[in-house]
Amino acid sequence: MTRNSFRLTTLGALAFGVLVLAPGSAHAQKIPGQPHAETGAALAQKICTNCHLIGASGQQTSASADVPSFKEIANLKGQSRERITMSIALPTHAMPMIELTREETSDLAEYILSLKTAD
Ligand code: HEC
Repeated sequence: MTRNSFRLTTLGALAFGVLVLAPGSAHAQKIPGQPHAETGAALAQKICTNCHLIGASGQQTSASADVPSFKEIANLKGQSRERITMSIALPTHAMPMIELTREETSDLAEYILSLKTAD
């Protein structure tokens, strides 16, 4: 093994550790580069509540009747982080034309996933 490939392997192992450990930090403070449900919730509160019922806060009194709530979306059969991320990044529905960063998109997905109650 050359010196360089050893370094790459070490980096790969570190990156793997970060990816695997990330979900456990969902309730900690926002760490740049890691999805954070609370940040996503705050963002959703601002830009998604015109149409969607979002979390269980109980503060929201109205939303569009024919739009699925975030909880319903989270509990769709076979729902995954990838699917949620895709439908935020490349929406097939009328989403507000707000440019979301990759980070904001992953925070939103993390938040929606946090509402999942079924398997
Ligand atoms: C103008 C109304 C409107 C707004 C604002 C809106 N949505 Fe939606 N959203 C919809 C409708 C209608 C659907 C269901 C139709 C569909 O899936 O195409 C939907 C579906 C979704 C889905 C599920 C798509 C799927 O794969 O089934 C996700 C995820 C989603 N919205 C996320 C968001 C997020 C995050 C925001 C805020 C950034 C947002 N939406 C803002 C109307 C809206």
